[in-house]
Amino acid sequence: MKIGIDCLSFFIPDLFLDIAELAVARDTDPAKFKIGIGQDQMAVQPLTQDIVTLGANAAKKIVTDADRALIDMVIVGTESGTDFSKASAVVIHELLDIQPFARSFEIKEACYGGTAALQLAKEYVANHPDRKVLVIASDIARYGLNSGGEVTQGAGAVAMLITKDPRVLVLADDSTFLTENVYDFWRPAYSEFPIVDGPLSNTTYIESFQKVWHRHSEVTGLTLSDYDALSFHIPYTKMGKKALLSVLDETDEATRERLLARYEESIRYSRRIGNLYTGSLYMGLISLLENSAALTGGSRIGLFSYGSGAVSEFFTGYLAEGFENHLFQSAHQELLENRRQVSISTYEELFIQKLPVHGESAVYEDPMRFSIQKVEGDIRYYRKTES
Ligand code: HMG
Repeated sequence: MKIGIDCLSFFIPDLFLDIAELAVARDTDPAKFKIGIGQDQMAVQPLTQDIVTLGANAAKKIVTDADRALIDMVIVGTESGTDFSKASAVVIHELLDIQPFARSFEIKEACYGGTAALQLAKEYVANHPDRKVLVIASDIARYGLNSGGEVTQGAGAVAMLITKDPRVLVLADDSTFLTENVYDFWRPAYSEFPIVDGPLSNTTYIESFQKVWHRHSEVTGLTLSDYDALSFHIPYTKMGKKALLSVLDETDEATRERLLARYEESIRYSRRIGNLYTGSLYMGLISLLENSAALTGGSRIGLFSYGSGAVSEFFTGYLAEGFENHLFQSAHQELLENRRQVSISTYEELFIQKLPVHGESAVYEDPMRFSIQKVEGDIRYYRKTES
């Protein structure tokens, strides 16, 4: 039976910051941020958008009325959870009107959480072929003002519907995964921001890619030349390229050129959004599918997922015939084009704003389809408009 991604879509906040302006404000050469890191813009999160609203807004494009009755699980991969007990998936389940006899939960392992959710969904559908699973990867990547990781911040969500006979990407049964206990990036429960060893995170990412790729190649017999494209977790767009370059001397010139060309197509959206943590690999996949004229039904795509800490996985997907008819290019372009640019001072003001805590309350106005409407009695209430 073929199982995989039937459709997928992303959602991002409607505000962004120009990366060159951030560089100037941080007394840094803009070329470092634009070329050395590989970012042009960064999504900026308003107070009224959190992982629930980003996730629900991403999913609303792909969930039809018929799907609502067939979805058995809503799984949110995230490392930006706002509650140690209650899962954002439970709230999203309600906002999307999914049938009540469903499982809803969060899954966590840094940026790997989206892939853990996807693979779990695939196994569920293998046992329940007529049912569907909604997978959402939703995060707000924050390192702090003036921090070393500030240029690699971002926010957004990717939603994917996992079904049999998928219309976009058929997932192969060839995952290779790896766990190594590394402290490259982690966020203790008491800390607002992650603790990061930047150089260690870069080398662990690259070494993890080499290990899972080489093992995958040994087990499956597939080599780089068998792939039409590789899609990477993209914490910043230079990162995946470094990992890709580290193995390209294993292959021929035509494969090198092909994989590098596809890589450039896979980072177009991320250059303008930044890190989505759990959603970054899938944002790269959407960008690849929506910006490449070289892929056709049957094209073989390798996907590399990395979550600090560290868990990584390499797996393969095959594009379904007619996949291009089930993408959302124009809606995604509109999202990117209709954002409002904010100044450094507005970004900094937004960054330090906080929702009410215990004993406080507030009411908000935000025209998004799903947004935070008010916070009262330690509960976030969400607005669901018809737009
Ligand atoms: P940094 O110290 O700001 O930058 O840290 P750098 O000094 O390493 O320079 C970066 C690049 O810019 C270098 O290129 C420089 O040469 C170049 P490279 O040698 O690496 O190819 N450069 C210039 N280029 C052009 N013109 C110039 C110029 N100056 C320098 N004038 C770092 C960068 C990414 C480490 C930092 O921003 C950071 O800590 N970010 C957060 C951690 C991160 O994203 N790590 C990535 C791997 S871990 C991961 O992917 C997991 C994660 O998503 C979390 C999760 O799993 O949950 C993060």
